Amino acid sequence: MDLLLCGTLHGPQNRCNVFHSRYYNGCVFQLRKYQPVDFERLLEIDQSCFTTGIAYSEAEMRYFLSMPMSITLVGVRGAHIEGFIIANHYRSRRSSRSVGKIITIDVAPVAQHSGLGSVLISGAEAKLQKAGCDYVSLEVAVDNEPALKFYKKHGYTVLKVLPRYYLDSIDGLLMGKKL
Ligand SMILES: CC(C)(COP(=O)(O)OP(=O)(O)OC[C@H]1O[C@@H](n2cnc3c(N)ncnc32)[C@H](O)[C@@H]1OP(=O)(O)O)[C@@H](O)C(=O)NCCC(=O)NCCS
Repeated sequence: MDLLLCGTLHGPQNRCNVFHSRYYNGCVFQLRKYQPVDFERLLEIDQSCFTTGIAYSEAEMRYFLSMPMSITLVGVRGAHIEGFIIANHYRSRRSSRSVGKIITIDVAPVAQHSGLGSVLISGAEAKLQKAGCDYVSLEVAVDNEPALKFYKKHGYTVLKVLPRYYLDSIDGLLMGKKL
């Protein structure tokens, strides 16, 4: 995998923080912060990624985007949003450090396996680290093989099985990574 990160996520807010990704077809993606005008596109991407019952409703999506510590980045190719990631962080009771959580990462089917997911998760991890997190966790369905391969490639390991976590029938896996 050949990932070239240029620029920074921590620049002034009015600057576009650019991450170049050299992948298949020479795709180049840009990461930027979520803006309310992006909402419908994010909902559309989520519904194209997940089946009914697992995809977020409009209310759920609004809830996750509005969490006080929410970090949402969108990945853009040209003028078009092709993917996004929502993360959150909170202070652990047992430690003075914060813990990060990936709420969801979604790449539109047409753009999957072209490097955008890697750019999004690296960008979110950098933001979480800057917010004081030294650990990040997430949940994934046991039958989501591309996502499992993706997370393992990014250094996440399985912490425990979450029985019947999705649709009250599919097991989930809690995964984590030290930042
Ligand atoms: C999982 C997801 C975020 C990965 O993003 P992506 O842009 O497709 O992934 P990348 O191109 O950065 O791939 C990085 C690695 O992930 C794995 N991977 C990604 N897509 C894969 C696929 N379709 N099949 C197998 N492995 C895959 C590979 O290990 C890949 O490395 P490689 O390019 O050397 O083969 C994306 O496929 C997606 O949005 N899927 C639908 C929604 C979803 O399942 N989200 C996770 C919910 S927990």
